[in-house]
Amino acid sequence: MTEYTRSQLALRNGQDRDEIWVAYQGKIFDVTQSRLWRNGKHYEHWAGQDLTDELVDAPHTEKVFERMTQIGILV
Ligand code: HEM
Repeated sequence: MTEYTRSQLALRNGQDRDEIWVAYQGKIFDVTQSRLWRNGKHYEHWAGQDLTDELVDAPHTEKVFERMTQIGILV
């Protein structure tokens, strides 16, 4: 699995590149195809960062990541 740094992840925030990525518990997921992450925004949350600590704010569990493709590891 490819390793990416926080700055590489930050470029995939839905504004600077076409790809949109989100990190959760050290794994980076590609949410580009999700209509719920359009332009990198998901309700009050922004892509391009580690959102592990923000999942508590969500009305859903981490199960939502089962539908997403893991594209790398956050180092
Ligand atoms: C105010 C906070 C949030 C709200 C209201 C919210 C709401 C939702 C809703 C309604 C869905 C689709 C229904 C479902 O799968 O249960 C969803 C999917 C998803 N959410 Fe959240 N969410 C929030 C925070 C977060 C956070 C912090 C993360 C990341 C750690 C996250 C990651 C995801 C992912 C990856 C999906 C799947 C997208 C898809 O299937 O296309 N959400 N969210």
